Amino acid sequence: MHKTLLTALLLTAPASAQPAPYLDPSLPAERRVADLLGRMTLEEKVGQLAQIDVLRLMGQGEWDRGPLNPEWMENVLARQHVGSLLSGGGNAPVPNTPAAWARMTNDLQRYAIEHSRLKIPILYGVDAVHGHNNVVGATIFPHNLGLGATFDPPLARRIGEVTARALRATGITWNFSPDADLGRDPRWGRFYETWGEDPLLASSMVAENVRGQQGDTLGPNAVAATLKHFAGYGAPIGGKDRADARLTDAELRAVHLPPFQAGLAAGVAAVMVNSGSVNGVPGHASGKLLTDVLRKNLGFTGVTISDWEDVTRLQTVYKVAPTYRDAVRLALTAGVDVSMVPHDARGFTGAVLDLVRAGEVPVSRIDEAAGRVLNLKFRLGLFERPYVDPAGAEAAVTAGRDLALRAARESVTLLATDGRTLPLGKTVKNVLVVGERARDPRSQLGGWTVGWQGLPEGESTRAITVLDGMKAVVPPGTSLAYSPTVPAKPSVDTLVVVVGEPPHAEGEADNPGLALPDTDLALLRAAVATGKPVVAVLLAGRPLVLPENVRTRLAALVMAYLPGSEGGRAIADVLYGNTNPSGRLPFTWPRSATQVPGTYDEPFPGGTPLYPFGYGLSYTTFSYSGLRATGDSITVNVTNIGKVAGAHTVLAFARPAGAASPLKLAAFGRVVLGPGEARNVSLSLPRGLFPAGGAEIRVGALQTTTEQP
Ligand code: BGC
Ligand code: BGC
Repeated sequence: MHKTLLTALLLTAPASAQPAPYLDPSLPAERRVADLLGRMTLEEKVGQLAQIDVLRLMGQGEWDRGPLNPEWMENVLARQHVGSLLSGGGNAPVPNTPAAWARMTNDLQRYAIEHSRLKIPILYGVDAVHGHNNVVGATIFPHNLGLGATFDPPLARRIGEVTARALRATGITWNFSPDADLGRDPRWGRFYETWGEDPLLASSMVAENVRGQQGDTLGPNAVAATLKHFAGYGAPIGGKDRADARLTDAELRAVHLPPFQAGLAAGVAAVMVNSGSVNGVPGHASGKLLTDVLRKNLGFTGVTISDWEDVTRLQTVYKVAPTYRDAVRLALTAGVDVSMVPHDARGFTGAVLDLVRAGEVPVSRIDEAAGRVLNLKFRLGLFERPYVDPAGAEAAVTAGRDLALRAARESVTLLATDGRTLPLGKTVKNVLVVGERARDPRSQLGGWTVGWQGLPEGESTRAITVLDGMKAVVPPGTSLAYSPTVPAKPSVDTLVVVVGEPPHAEGEADNPGLALPDTDLALLRAAVATGKPVVAVLLAGRPLVLPENVRTRLAALVMAYLPGSEGGRAIADVLYGNTNPSGRLPFTWPRSATQVPGTYDEPFPGGTPLYPFGYGLSYTTFSYSGLRATGDSITVNVTNIGKVAGAHTVLAFARPAGAASPLKLAAFGRVVLGPGEARNVSLSLPRGLFPAGGAEIRVGALQTTTEQP
């Protein structure tokens, strides 16, 4: 009996010496997918549709970050054939070092391949939303909102490249980034993850970031990028994370879809589904969004992935499915390919298998979804190069500090100045830096840094705080001191008070009043009460409302967003005038929370905002002349008529001629000019912007005067 079997095996041996077509890297990915699917069992295919969080494979319990547990690896990878893993925010190996990340992904990959009959590698995903941000010591870029203020899409591309290289060096191949949601309501806890309120700005940044992450071909230094969260996630009622969004089709098309379209045109590999609902329909059950819009209208051919636990939530939260099995059927039928389960692998695969066997989900749907996942694995070269060298991880994860510094410098936005106090070091010689946030990096790093909710208290990571930055650049002949609180009679020329929001993520970051924390406000009040000039620096993921009797008594107001690991140095450079501020608000800054949600491109609730979209001051002055519209572009001559060099973003707004509707951003471009220097700036306008009747175009500020201190 035994012998016969052996002979049979030996007889077929010569055939298997010829590698199967799916293992041949010279064949197109589509051929390899078709060949591989043809060899897979239904169970193996269904495994490709599941994504499990790494904590499930670590330690003893569900949330235990212990060493990888062989029993769980066997359950998830060998028995359920799970095709991808993720580290949710903060779900890092112990110790949390770049090399340990590389060793962990290698170990998981090796286990998966060795226990896969057809040697299928896994994909590993993370939320690297501002650098490889789960890793202690990683370079942390400004969160997207600050990058929006740079109006510099090539910068978003460079950041994508550097982040992808860092991820790949630790064995991570899938990034749940960039966020393509519009920031239409600053109360929302994820406002800082957006590029601001404008569809054109967000589209340009998203497209370039995707190109940066994926390269041209998803090569060995690239990762699969993900546009999230499709679609309409950025406008929840009341600014409450995951609340329903009420959107007309026209709004969806004009405001929320463009960044996704731009990312799709850039070739994005994956799309993550909106965890909330639109007009009462949960994103994960919306065949309209996931199939009609995403696949049929927009032509997406890549992988759609659910958000965290959201298939389950169709049953438990949205109650559109009476059982989990029904929830799985709804999601698969609507168009979700991969489910970020993230814990119970067998529960999910069991439900899918049952649905297929009962004829409620066709095998063709499983083939389609699994095929898309496998296609990605082939394109990423994972069958050929599944492992990484841990020795290269550290250098890649800590690379890009200069780029992060440049990004933070470009983002800092000067909102108000008395014209005397800043830049420091000229008339102001002796400075007192005030506030815990000046020396604690947690606020400048923001959420999604080491931990999901930001750097956990008591843990540390490399960052240059505002105080570090100021110490590094304080000019000779001037002085710098620090105090956590405001002294009763400070014997200095000026106080620099660093205030802002504690780090948070998602719903925990919702801020319905756009309020500064009480302790921070008390600090500002005490500072202005001293009668000394006060420079307020805000580390915040949104516009905050400062009481009038505080704001109008400031000598200067600087918005620094969530500027990342090099943020302190960038802020210091702006305060001391080594960098001329050039950031422009990527959102409308309301006078009070009653003006929210109010964006510049819709009729504005109640008067004018405090600072309009695109607002931002400089230490020099730029003047415009010779505006010409030439077919599909406009040209304007920009001159730096001041005494210092500076960068300047030209904003062109437009509306149909004769229309009373608000102006909308139609084009933008950045120039750097030395004192006295002039340049013609040419901006191309979107084709067919106004098919009939022409357009009214305005270049420059939306609102010329706002009150200044
Ligand atoms: C967030 C996603 C994220 C996922 C995985 C979810 O809670 O909404 O943006 O990609 O978790 O961490
Ligand atoms: C994970 C996050 C995820 C969140 C969703 C956390 O435990 O670490 O990545 O977004 O749960 O609730």
